[in-house]
Amino acid sequence: MDQDQKKLIAAKASLEYIENGIVLGVGSGSTVNHLIDILPSVRDKIEHVVSSSGATSELLKQRGFEVSMLNAVGDVDLYIDGADEATKHRQLIKGGGGALTREKILAGASRQFVCIIDDSKQVGMLGTFPLPIEVIPMAQSYVARKLVRMGGQPVWREKFVTDNGNHILDIHNLLITNPMEVETRINQIPGIVTVGLFAHRPADILIVGDESGVRTLTA
Ligand code: 5RP
Repeated sequence: MDQDQKKLIAAKASLEYIENGIVLGVGSGSTVNHLIDILPSVRDKIEHVVSSSGATSELLKQRGFEVSMLNAVGDVDLYIDGADEATKHRQLIKGGGGALTREKILAGASRQFVCIIDDSKQVGMLGTFPLPIEVIPMAQSYVARKLVRMGGQPVWREKFVTDNGNHILDIHNLLITNPMEVETRINQIPGIVTVGLFAHRPADILIVGDESGVRTLTA
């Protein structure tokens, strides 16, 4: 089974969390794209759908879904999204696709957050995948210097502008032994919109697609 098939089986397994009359949040990325492909099979159960990115909204519309604004629907019952790295404690690095800010908003606004990954994303410790940080453009160099002082090596994601009009710094080689502490510390730096560390609000349920099927990790 290749990684793409593992993403597909994880996406399929997440369908069972979709209950009748639900407000569903949909994340971004290739794993979630599998979910969007099969989402029409549970269309009748979904009251409203909200999206974490322009790309996801576009795909949802192609599948015939009307995408609602978060402000119009209140809290989200269930948010389903992928990740770039995940630990057994369901703490995540996200933002490889650059949609981290809206993803973090939806994760925060959701009663339940189900994360779907293939087994290549499961790690013992976060940080091998460069940590994405969305920054206000004028603060980019200042933020980069701060991150260097924390031991990271920031790389500007050139020619990339987020859905919110901001830039992304990918921080290489940052030691993330205590994800909650690192998330709190980075959040103190002015000019940072969002850090792609999901430690204070981890996934509630992590579905991992691997050779033998799916494994589900919960609290
Ligand atoms: C986008 C994300 C994605 O969830 C993450 O990059 C995983 O993507 P994929 O499913 O394509 O591996 O955080 O900002």
